[in-house]
Amino acid sequence: MTIAIYPGSFDPITLGHLDIIERASKLFDKTIVAVLRNPNKSPMFTVQERLSQIRLSTAHLSNLEVDGFNGLTVNYARMRNARVILRGLRVLSDFEMELQMAHTNKTLAPEIETVFLATSKEYSFLSSSVVKEIAKFGGSIDQFVPEHVALEIYRCYVKTQPGSTPTLPALDLKSNRSETDPLL
Ligand code: PNS
Repeated sequence: MTIAIYPGSFDPITLGHLDIIERASKLFDKTIVAVLRNPNKSPMFTVQERLSQIRLSTAHLSNLEVDGFNGLTVNYARMRNARVILRGLRVLSDFEMELQMAHTNKTLAPEIETVFLATSKEYSFLSSSVVKEIAKFGGSIDQFVPEHVALEIYRCYVKTQPGSTPTLPALDLKSNRSETDPLL
């Protein structure tokens, strides 16, 4: 039985992540989506919220587990008897960092293989940060994240930045106006 872990921050899960998860579930006997509890980052969502978001988004997949972990990914992979660490590759610029991570993990745990899946073309530009940035400035993120996640992000920005207009789509020119030039 081949178990793969798919580690990441998932703050929040995007349709790009979901694409990788769905394809992984066809390739491996079991896939574990592993959310890193990272004390060095200030995330938008708590680990518990991210676990719930991912569970809801992947409820249709039976050979999938969603879990949180601390510390080194290879230690968690060993604990879960996973032979594969799965990562998605979007663009060439991802590669340098991902290759460094794969080599580090291989050095620490030679029995574990890193497997890269090329992200589907339509999601090659997509990241959690891009999604948060669009929502922050009032753009629509409905086509980038599962519906329930979009609602949670909108709610979050309404709470923290009441002036933003997250329910209006990107066509809202008001949010693109220059602060210094009233004609723009
Ligand atoms: O979604 P992300 O933020 O790109 O995921 C990065 C992640 C969590 C896979 C990576 O930071 C990681 O594995 N962190 C755990 C610490 C670790 O194992 N470091 C050694 C490999 S560089």
